[in-house]
Amino acid sequence: MRSTLVLVQSQWLLCVFVGVCVPSVVVIHSLPWHVSCPAQCVCQIKPWFSSESVYHEAPTVDCNDLLLTELPLPLPQNTHTLRLQSNLLSELESAVLCSLPNLTELDLSQNHFSSIRTITQSSSLPSLLSLHLEENRLNHLPEASFSSLPALQELFLSHNSLYSLAPGAFTGLDSLLRLHINNNRLTTIDPRWFRALPRLEVLMLGGNPVEVLPERGFQALGSLRSLVLSGMGLRSLAEKALEGLDGLESLSFYDNLLTKVPTQALKRVPGLKFLDLNKNRIKLVETGDFRDMVHLKELGLNNMEDLVSIERAALENLPELTKLEITNNPRLSYIHPQAFLQLSRLESLMLNSNSLSALHRHTLLSLPSLQEVSLHSNPLRCDCLFHWAAEPQATLCSEPPELRARRVKEVSTREMAASCLPMIPHAPLPSYVGVREGGSLTLHCRALAEPQPKLYWVTPSGLRLGPAPSHVSNHTPDLAPYLSRTASEGSNHTSSQPSLDVREVGEHYAVLSWQSGHNLPSTQLSWQAIYPNAHTPTYTTRILAGTQSFNLTHLHAETFYSVCLHLGSSEGVAHTSRRTRESTKPQCVSFRTKEAPEPKPSLQLSPELTSTALTLLFVAVILLLLAGQGWDTVPGEEAGKHHSALLQWIKSHKSQIINQKTEGSSEHQPKQSVKLSLHLDC
Ligand SMILES: *[C@@H]1O[C@H](CO)[C@@H](O)[C@H](O)[C@H]1NC(C)=O
Ligand SMILES: *[C@@H]1O[C@H](CO)[C@@H](O)[C@H](O)[C@H]1NC(C)=O
Ligand SMILES: *[C@@H]1O[C@H](CO)[C@@H](O)[C@H](O)[C@H]1NC(C)=O
Repeated sequence: MRSTLVLVQSQWLLCVFVGVCVPSVVVIHSLPWHVSCPAQCVCQIKPWFSSESVYHEAPTVDCNDLLLTELPLPLPQNTHTLRLQSNLLSELESAVLCSLPNLTELDLSQNHFSSIRTITQSSSLPSLLSLHLEENRLNHLPEASFSSLPALQELFLSHNSLYSLAPGAFTGLDSLLRLHINNNRLTTIDPRWFRALPRLEVLMLGGNPVEVLPERGFQALGSLRSLVLSGMGLRSLAEKALEGLDGLESLSFYDNLLTKVPTQALKRVPGLKFLDLNKNRIKLVETGDFRDMVHLKELGLNNMEDLVSIERAALENLPELTKLEITNNPRLSYIHPQAFLQLSRLESLMLNSNSLSALHRHTLLSLPSLQEVSLHSNPLRCDCLFHWAAEPQATLCSEPPELRARRVKEVSTREMAASCLPMIPHAPLPSYVGVREGGSLTLHCRALAEPQPKLYWVTPSGLRLGPAPSHVSNHTPDLAPYLSRTASEGSNHTSSQPSLDVREVGEHYAVLSWQSGHNLPSTQLSWQAIYPNAHTPTYTTRILAGTQSFNLTHLHAETFYSVCLHLGSSEGVAHTSRRTRESTKPQCVSFRTKEAPEPKPSLQLSPELTSTALTLLFVAVILLLLAGQGWDTVPGEEAGKHHSALLQWIKSHKSQIINQKTEGSSEHQPKQSVKLSLHLDC
């Protein structure tokens, strides 16, 4: 049942983009037509549909695939449709065609025509509505190429070699409704071409190497309903590129090089109902990218290699949107819980075949009309699927290992965790990035977790690059001010010490917290029970970089403890190197645990990350080894020589996850002369 539905829908979508809905089931059969038919051709009365889909019985001469080099004769005088596809024609005797007053459709596709004049010169075909010239050898259209075809409604010129069109090439085509000129060699769009086409409804321009659309290039096309601009190499869109397309309903940018949603240009086509942005280089769908497009019904964001994230309010106030497809995006690992706002009529949400490990329940709670969701072929984590049960039967879990290959639906709520630690997906992060000194670098990382995680970056030397602690509630902070401050303070690192506080003390536990701008990856906590006249062991634990609180558990009740925080000690506390000891003095505090009726002695260590709002996440990605010491602004002649020194390879995040030991981390303090400006979007 469902597959039938999907088939019909996609067919509908396709024909909307193409612009005409050919009835998919034609029950009417051909009828015999008793005329003297040219040799080898077939003459029949065939069904024919006008551009308004009105049915006609059309006397049809079918001479396809006959290797003809000239017109077959005699052609019956009342021929309505003449098919000459796949022959070897390069010229037409116009007098022959002129004797066919009712000729309505002429198919000359897949022949050898190299000049349009050989087809349209002198012969006026007042009834011709449809002319097929696909896959010929046309390379130029002179002025008024089709002026002898005053009634023409459909002109098919795709897959020729057209590289130049005279400004008035289409003059006289006042009735033209459909123009296919896709897959030619046009490199620019001349707005003058379209002035002659006031009634045009469908324009297919894709597959021409046009990298830039002119401003107001389509202004004359006020009647256009469907525009296909696929496969053109468009990198961006001028704000006024779509100006004047007041009737546009369907727009396709399939397979271009757009790196952003062309929001400003799209604002000029408020009537848009169908938008295809599939297969572009869009990295982020950002806040407000699709806002207030009040007629939009269907949106496609599929097959994007670079798409990593759908941000908060990326789709907002689209009251007519019923179908949203975001599929086959191999790096898409994050959809903000409030990515979709005010989509009151969204019925179908396709999210299959991405890199999503989870979908927050808020994402779906905001969609009151939702009927169908597809999430299959994602690396779903079934320990924290946010208790969401709308998923169809077949979807399988990929994480955690014990639930792998189970059906999402069959995993009970009991088996899911109440809280859900964030997981940094690997897909969005590149393994290697080359950055020039003084250049800029943008890396995106996102993670879903419950409670909401805070994300920031830590360099291999332990330098935290994330939002300053005072902006902790800001989900998408602008890091630039913080980063510049961090860089300039790099050498002042030693003088800022964290202060270690005891936040809460129980009978058997104590919660410690500290503030530090520098969170070295090898931070350790040590603690010791203090008894008069007794030697007690010292325990140490490694602190995950970025963590700013720790719950010491399994303590004795009614006992004094001394706890110290060691920043940047890469070995155990006892073996701290001289250098490290110099640069970071441990911070210590003491406290006494509470009284308990029956203290149960146990000194076992069970470090648990306090997973309150302070659940922190960290990734160390950036290696800022700026080898070019004393490197200053590059004069041109020297640039080539130093080029290789300028490229600093940033290592794979995988090798730099902070939980690992980072040898000699204190050696890699950023130099004051750092000129690399980073934009980390985390
Ligand atoms: C052309 O079509 C009209 C109307 O269908 C018809 O009356 C007329 O006879 C046709 N002309 C020829 C030459 O067949
Ligand atoms: C280092 O930082 C502290 C406060 O963070 C400041 O008071 C001090 O002046 C700085 N020293 C230098 C050399 O910048
Ligand atoms: C710390 O751990 C103890 C024992 O597991 C627990 O009772 C307490 O609630 C924890 N405190 C925090 C703030 O997580």
